[in-house]
Amino acid sequence: MSAVDPQSRVLSGMRPTGRLHLGHYHGVLKNWLALQHEYDCFFFVADWHALTTHYEDPHHLQQHMVDMVIDWLAVGVNPGSSTIFIQSRVPEHAELHLLLSMMTPLSWLERVPTYKDQQEKLREKDLSTYGFLGYPLLQSADILAYRAGNVPVGADQESHVEMTREVARRFNHLYGREPGFEEQAEMAIKKMGRKQGDLYRKLRKTYLETGDDDALDTAKALLREQNNITLGDQERLFGYLEGTGKVILPEPLALITPQAKMPGLDGQKMSKSYNNTIALRESPDDVDAKIRKMPTDPARIRRNDPGNPLKCPVWHFHTIYSDEQRQNWVQEGCTSASIGCLDCKKTVVEAIQAELEPIRIEALELENNQDVVKSIITEGCEKARDEAQDTLKEVRDVMGLNYR
Ligand code: TRP
Ligand code: SF4
Repeated sequence: MSAVDPQSRVLSGMRPTGRLHLGHYHGVLKNWLALQHEYDCFFFVADWHALTTHYEDPHHLQQHMVDMVIDWLAVGVNPGSSTIFIQSRVPEHAELHLLLSMMTPLSWLERVPTYKDQQEKLREKDLSTYGFLGYPLLQSADILAYRAGNVPVGADQESHVEMTREVARRFNHLYGREPGFEEQAEMAIKKMGRKQGDLYRKLRKTYLETGDDDALDTAKALLREQNNITLGDQERLFGYLEGTGKVILPEPLALITPQAKMPGLDGQKMSKSYNNTIALRESPDDVDAKIRKMPTDPARIRRNDPGNPLKCPVWHFHTIYSDEQRQNWVQEGCTSASIGCLDCKKTVVEAIQAELEPIRIEALELENNQDVVKSIITEGCEKARDEAQDTLKEVRDVMGLNYR
């Protein structure tokens, strides 16, 4: 059995969307880079997840996957300190997904907010599929297979991590014996209110001391009536009635990535679907042209019309790329019309070029040495698989699937 410290482990996945852009870099990847120094990180390409919504066009999947991994490596995700792998090459994710599906109430999946939202948003697709409904549970399996205590995700994915916690709790309740459980159970009892809590305690004591089945049944009925405690707490108290449990699958915490700071060229969120991106591998000429074409404060029609940076998407870029001194220069120059928009944009272009140059060079190097990329992925997949196999062995054991 492996001795994993869930607290020190980070896991996150990204759907293979192809070449990444500055939004990914400033929103997600820089966070990964910081985490890889402090944690035992697992980063994977969520190719099965991509199929849950794009099952009808798998043609670009491979290229997108390779392009994405090249960009991870080019920005500095370090295969020496992080494990980089592909979901579909670790079939344990699928096995755990299946096993968890046995004990996951359908209603937990139906009430995940992204389920209805995404169906609405992607209305042109038929997403009334089994795979799409189950996709948050596949995500739970991704996380739990590595017993990862920390999961960096955007706020939109928080509900998936929350559901993962419930799934883990239920699993442990059904199949495990949990330490640190006592205090939590005691806290849950307090939440029931004084009167109900005291009754629960009395029934539990009676049952534990005398084995009185009536007391047990009455206590269970009492718990079922509670609607001011969470389902998880309810399950704790069911377990607590009869004995304590161990954590087989630890409950992960979501590390919420702050709202992406990086706006797109038009001031909206940077996103491929808005066609307002600068790719990490964008050529210097294209970076130049894209910034030059960026809209500015519409009130600055002529060079000597004063402007307001707050109404200008270029200003957002300055908040990311310029120090205080330069920001003051923009503020003053813009509002007094002493600088032109092209002057103002020039410094942004320079900063982006400086940021992207080493990334572009590294990516080109990797494009020309795809064997290196392949072996990094293969090694990562092997390491990931070892970890997931340890977990699955334990899961199979407690679920009665260890006959040989
Ligand atoms: N569902 C995530 C997304 O669409 C990607 C993902 C899959 C993930 N499995 C994960 C993220 C596990 C964190 C942990 O962006
Ligand atoms: Fe925008 Fe800069 Fe032009 Fe002001 S000077 S409108 S901040 S580009």
